[in-house]
Amino acid sequence: MGSRKFPNFIQLEHPLCKKDITVLRDVNTQSEAFRSAVRRISSLLAVAISQNFKVKKTKVQTPLELTAGYTLAQQIVLVPVLRAGLGMVGGFLDIIPDAKVGHIGLQRDEETLKPKQYYYKTPKNLKASKVILLDPMLATGGSSSQAITDLKKRGSKDCMFACIVAAPEGLQKMRKDHPDVKIFGAMLDRQLNDRGYILPGLGDAGDRTFGTL
Ligand code: PRP
Ligand code: URA
Repeated sequence: MGSRKFPNFIQLEHPLCKKDITVLRDVNTQSEAFRSAVRRISSLLAVAISQNFKVKKTKVQTPLELTAGYTLAQQIVLVPVLRAGLGMVGGFLDIIPDAKVGHIGLQRDEETLKPKQYYYKTPKNLKASKVILLDPMLATGGSSSQAITDLKKRGSKDCMFACIVAAPEGLQKMRKDHPDVKIFGAMLDRQLNDRGYILPGLGDAGDRTFGTL
């Protein structure tokens, strides 16, 4: 459920999620263990997000008889924000294997903390799809807000955002810029430091995922 301050933010209250956030926070966790914890948390997020997906009825032939079945009513499009969002794709596809995958490349300028776009590619017909933006870190909110703006410009009408760690500053910005977008997160952290890093956080998610520290 959303809190009173951030009604659009739904925090996962799953024991396995709490355990794996601790793995991510640990400065001694190496890339391989980091990536697998991100993948497991992403699967838990995918289960929570897909809870209210609409289905439509179909028929399926079993080895014995024809019976009722279901398919998803809407195309699902996952859109990871490069680079760190890539780490979440596998865990989402484990749960939603038919999803299509777009990509948005954004790099935060270390001085201004503003995101710069360097890549954009999404499937056609975003308008009729349910789009899930993936980025483990919601810090100032500049990157995720920009990504959602880009998706809306390309026709998306039904967007959600899945992150792992959120800062209050980022949730505030998302609430102001995109009040229609629900955010699913694994943890709400305390604050940003003066370099725009989340505290207590887990450091630079892209570098820890890909071993570029
Ligand atoms: C990180 C992270 C988010 C962004 C969050 O990416 O993965 O995309 O910062 O910060 P914000 O909310 O203040 O915009 P970064 O720009 O470091 O790129 P990287 O994933 O390639 O390392
Ligand atoms: N991006 C990260 O990867 N980590 C933070 O704490 C903030 C932005």
